[in-house]
Amino acid sequence: MEVPFLDLKMQYKEIKGEVEPLILEVMESCSYVEGTYVRNFEKQMEEYLSVRHVGTCSNGTDALVLALKACDVQPGDEVITTPFTFFATAEAIASTGAIPVFVDIKEDDYTIDPKEIEQAITSKTKAILPVHIFGAMCDMDSIMDIAKRHGLKVIEDDAQAIGSEYKAKKAGTLGDVGCFSFYPTKNLGGAGDGGMVTTNDDGLAKIIRAYKDHGAGQNGAEAFALLGLGDEELSINEAVTGLYNPYRYYNYLIGYNSRLGALQAAVLSVKLRHLDHYNSRRAEIAAMYFEGLTDKLRKPVYSADMKSCWHQFVVRSEYKQELCSYLTQNGVGNGTFYPVPLHKQKAFNSSNCGNPNAHLPIAEKLSLQSVCLPIFPEMTDEQVRYVIDVTNKFYEEK
Ligand SMILES: Cc1ncc(COP(=O)(O)O)c(C=O)c1O
Repeated sequence: MEVPFLDLKMQYKEIKGEVEPLILEVMESCSYVEGTYVRNFEKQMEEYLSVRHVGTCSNGTDALVLALKACDVQPGDEVITTPFTFFATAEAIASTGAIPVFVDIKEDDYTIDPKEIEQAITSKTKAILPVHIFGAMCDMDSIMDIAKRHGLKVIEDDAQAIGSEYKAKKAGTLGDVGCFSFYPTKNLGGAGDGGMVTTNDDGLAKIIRAYKDHGAGQNGAEAFALLGLGDEELSINEAVTGLYNPYRYYNYLIGYNSRLGALQAAVLSVKLRHLDHYNSRRAEIAAMYFEGLTDKLRKPVYSADMKSCWHQFVVRSEYKQELCSYLTQNGVGNGTFYPVPLHKQKAFNSSNCGNPNAHLPIAEKLSLQSVCLPIFPEMTDEQVRYVIDVTNKFYEEK
């Protein structure tokens, strides 16, 4: 039997009838960037997450950059984060000129260890950037408590956690700002790149909306005032006509072009209707893995305070490479996230990272042991049982 690591074709087949007419509608509308489809998706998402503001953008990496900028993270400021994440988390920090400072993670669930955060705080620390890795929520009560005591902002990296919950609150609604990715392999994946920033803070939302569109227009003017850069009224005597918007040519901040395309918004709005169903199927698969997989490998241990969206199911094996080869030989797709913890990445050095030579034992150990098994909503029970059988057989032969 073949079990792919992920099968996007099956998902597309299921929603083809809903997505294709909408794509044609967007084409006919000729409104391709931002506009009604994007705003409607943002509203749908605000309701789904129970959050005041959703601002879409071009991808998850931009979402992090926009959030950092809106939280006034400046060159030279330190941002504490995890080394056990996708590169983009820390790349976004470094690309603002700030310094990522990596601290170790918890062995049970791979998330950042709050005890380590507290010890890493210095006078330069501006923010904490926890990552809900593989769908597992960080210990947000402790993180928010540390942030409050030290006057720090909390920027959640929710790229892998859409629909995950911590004490019945959705990922992206707990910190000051939440950052999501709609990369096609995510639990809610577009037909291309996409991302969004979430916040309950009206001022931050305004600044994010300004930064993502060249710091222009009414949002730009209001963000300019909110950032204390001056008090400007924007009044133009020209009307918005068709595709011509005169407000675009009055710029208040050095921002970005990070708008979302309407085609992406249309696809995402259809898939969002199915997200809870996708995530509960992932949870069923995870439950089968917990029950069926041998105890000779280590399965994640998640706190009862959280509900994971099961973006990945990651086990730990001291025979990582052998197990991966065995799975591949037997037709089971697999991955090894993350083989290099970020403080060990060549891209980070003493000029762009707070602790490139740190020894972070748990992250280092887990990166030598982590194996991701296939988990996607369209997987059949038969496929799940096959993955379990192949994995257990590997251990019997050991
Ligand atoms: C944890 C994490 N952060 C950030 C990103 C960046 O998202 P994107 O690829 O949409 O830029 C990703 C996605 O790949 C991710 O997994």
